[in-house]
Amino acid sequence: MPLLQVKRLSKSYTSTSGLFNRAPELLANHDISLILEQGKTLAIVGESGSGKSTLARQIIGIEKPTEGSILLNGKELDFANKQDRIERFKNIRMIFQDPYESLNPNVRVGHSLEQTLIINTHLNRKQRQQKIEETLKNVGLMPEHQYRYPYMFSGGQRQRIAIARAIILEPSIIIADEPLSALDVSVQAQIINLLQSLQEEMGISYIFISHDLNVVEHIADTILVMYRGRVVEYGNVSQIFDEALHPYTQALFASTPIYKGEFPQYKTQCIERPIEDQLSACVFASRCPYREPKCLTHNPQLVATDENYKIACFRFD
Ligand SMILES: Nc1ncnc2c1ncn2[C@@H]1O[C@H](COP(=O)(O)OP(=O)(O)O)[C@@H](O)[C@H]1O
Ligand SMILES: [Mg+2]
Repeated sequence: MPLLQVKRLSKSYTSTSGLFNRAPELLANHDISLILEQGKTLAIVGESGSGKSTLARQIIGIEKPTEGSILLNGKELDFANKQDRIERFKNIRMIFQDPYESLNPNVRVGHSLEQTLIINTHLNRKQRQQKIEETLKNVGLMPEHQYRYPYMFSGGQRQRIAIARAIILEPSIIIADEPLSALDVSVQAQIINLLQSLQEEMGISYIFISHDLNVVEHIADTILVMYRGRVVEYGNVSQIFDEALHPYTQALFASTPIYKGEFPQYKTQCIERPIEDQLSACVFASRCPYREPKCLTHNPQLVATDENYKIACFRFD
C-alpha cells in the first residue's frame, strides 16, 4: 500500500469579483491523482499559478477538496473530523519558501519548537528539552541556538529552523513548497544535502515543489508536471529527464540549460481563452506548437502509456 494516495482531486474557487457578478469558477486543481511511496521524493513542477500550493494545502488538510480523496496509509482523510485533521497535521509537515515569514520573529527558536511539542506530544519538560537539542543538532544547528530569535540567523539557518520544526514530530511526509527560492545558491546546496540526509536517516517522504529542474533531477524519484490546475505529465524522473514528451514539459525544459533535447518552434500567435473553457480544451492549447483543431474543443485525458508514466496530450492518445 502506498504511503500517500491522492485520487481524482479537484479544487475550485469561486471568484466574487467577476464582471456583472458572473462569479466564474476557477479550477485551481482538476482531477489530480498521485502516489507517494515511503522514503521517496515526488517533485511537483509547473509555472506560478498552476495550482501546486493549492494541492499541497489539501494534502496537509488545511483546505478541503471540492472533489476527490486523500489517503494516508490507506485511510481516507475525513475533513469533517477535527481529530483526523490534527493527526494528519502531525504526520504531514510543511516547509515554506520564506523561512522568515513562517517563523514568529518575537519568539525564541527553542520556545516555538517547544510549543509544537506541547501541543502535539505528551513529552515532559525534560524530554522536550532533550528533543529540542537533538533536533537542532540534526539540522546542523547548536543547542544554544534555541535561546535566539529568528532575526539573529542567516536565511539558510532560518530554513534549518523551519526544517527542525517540520521534523521534530517525526512526520512521515514533508511537503516543501519552493524551499530554496529565497536562498543563495551556495546555501541551497547545503539545504538540499540536509533534506537528503534526513530522508536517509528518518525515512521521510518528500513532496518537493520547485522551479529548479536541476534540483529536481538531483533529488526526486518521480515528477508531476502541472499546468493551469492539471497534471500534463507524470512519471519517473529519469525517464522524463531523458525525454520529455508533453509540449509544456518541453517548454519548461527549454528554459533550463540542463536539458539537451530538441525543442519545437513556438507559434508566436497565442490564443487567449476564458477560464470557463478550462474544461473544454487542452489547457496548453493556446501555447502549443503542435496544436490541432481538436485541442481547442476537447480536453485530452491523462492516460498511462506504461505502468509508471502518464501524459495528457492527443499526440499520445
Ligand atoms: N484562496 C484562493 N481563492 C481564490 N483563488 C485562489 C486561492 N488560492 C489560489 N487561488 C488561485 O488558484 C490558482 C493556483 O494557485 P496556486 O496553487 O497558488 O499556484 P502555484 O502554487 O502553482 O503558484 C491561481 O490562479 C490562484 O490565483
Ligand atoms: Mg505556490
